[in-house]
Amino acid sequence: MKAQKLLFPDGFLFGGALAANQCEGAAGTDGKGYSTADALTGGVFSAPQIPPKGFYLKEEAVDFYHHYKEDIALLGEMGIKVLRLSIAWSRIFPNGDEEEPNEKGLKFYDRLFDELEKYGIEPLVTLSHYEMPLYLATEYGGWADRRLIGFFEHYARTVFERYKGKVRYWLTFNEINMILHAPFNGGGIQGKPEEIDKSILYQAVHHQLVASALVTKAAHEIDPGFRVGCMIAGSPIYPLTCDPEDVLEAMRKDRESLFFGDVHVRGQYPGYMKRFFEENHIRIQFAQEDEEILKNTVDFISISYYMSYCATANEEKNTQSQGNIMSAVKNPYLEESDWGWQIDPKGLRYILNQLYDRYQLPIFIVENGLGAKDVLVEDGNGSYTVNDDYRISYAEQHLREAAEAVRDGVDVLGYTSWGIIDLVSNTSNQMSKRYGFVYVDRNDDGSGSLKRYRKKSFYWYRNVIETNGACLEECEK
Ligand code: BG6
Repeated sequence: MKAQKLLFPDGFLFGGALAANQCEGAAGTDGKGYSTADALTGGVFSAPQIPPKGFYLKEEAVDFYHHYKEDIALLGEMGIKVLRLSIAWSRIFPNGDEEEPNEKGLKFYDRLFDELEKYGIEPLVTLSHYEMPLYLATEYGGWADRRLIGFFEHYARTVFERYKGKVRYWLTFNEINMILHAPFNGGGIQGKPEEIDKSILYQAVHHQLVASALVTKAAHEIDPGFRVGCMIAGSPIYPLTCDPEDVLEAMRKDRESLFFGDVHVRGQYPGYMKRFFEENHIRIQFAQEDEEILKNTVDFISISYYMSYCATANEEKNTQSQGNIMSAVKNPYLEESDWGWQIDPKGLRYILNQLYDRYQLPIFIVENGLGAKDVLVEDGNGSYTVNDDYRISYAEQHLREAAEAVRDGVDVLGYTSWGIIDLVSNTSNQMSKRYGFVYVDRNDDGSGSLKRYRKKSFYWYRNVIETNGACLEECEK
């Protein structure tokens, strides 16, 4: 039986996503400073190596810094409408607390945005994607220090002024809610989350929330046409059973993340957090002006979506499944990827509806994709390819659910497939965990020619974009 029409709205922004620290490489080039991402040489949960020593993959990554023209040409050939990328803060302000920006760093992004324009690709820029100048972590203790708000605002104003006319869509902090689970990765705060005083952790969260609101205000002042969004790791939390205790536990867990959306969209702390702070003896310093600043709310929200989680109040049923940065209770109904991430396309429809019902703001899906091992094979035309049907199937299922959400009435702005060109994984720091529709010949040990190859998914996605998603419907039997 043929399903009903799966339609994406006209102008739906199909695209891809990258992050500076995972693709650019050129770690010490043109005056760039070390970033916190450079220090996590063993992945998100490794102890930071300060300064980074010896071989580490992100130092060169996939050398997007020098391959961007070739890469953007490939993306142009794929027909993408938008490229989500991030600016490396440490390229613009190598230490983070300078007055004057690094002109060479600014020039790189000038060239990059100009190149995108040639292909009619709209940039969607994250100001801080799991990256900040390492110096701010070592000398200031990261986001726990209030002075970072000023440094971040100065950085943001610098790039807003510089790229006005070239960039319209901005995101403040990547997966801002993940600072709770990986504090150095998200906030330059050293130590394991369970060992860090919760007042310090939530103080850092507060500083980021204030900084996010401040730069949203700055963006609107500098160019009223700017559209600024927050970015949240979106994972719906299902109760493991219908036991009311499980339902309440799921609500509690869900609010750990919804809190970030609530502040960004409603401009104030929700009541449930006040209770949480009280019961956990968490004290946050609010400066006098903070309440006013937080009222500068976002224009849209954005999410990454890889999986859903379950929650239970029953310790015995608490079998953990590894997820993206945080782990949670395993869902017995779902399959998982090679890295143990549970795959749940319907969860995407669910969370889009949940967030839209809650906020009534447009939603951008700025990350989604399957990290998998790829095998490069001859393509019969003298080149190489990857027959990544598994990736196509994953993306197809998720896009169908996004289309269902559109039919549910959710205002979905676009979809940028994560790591559209293979890059270094964030959690595991591997090359072998690949997401791309373009293969990059580089291996975990750093070997490889850095040559780019079109995977089967490259052609599939081109077709999806060309037909504005209509070809997904044809596949539906
Ligand atoms: C998101 C991050 O959490 O997930 C990305 O924003 C990351 O930076 C992506 O790469 C996939 O995770 P991983 O660990 O497979 O690279």
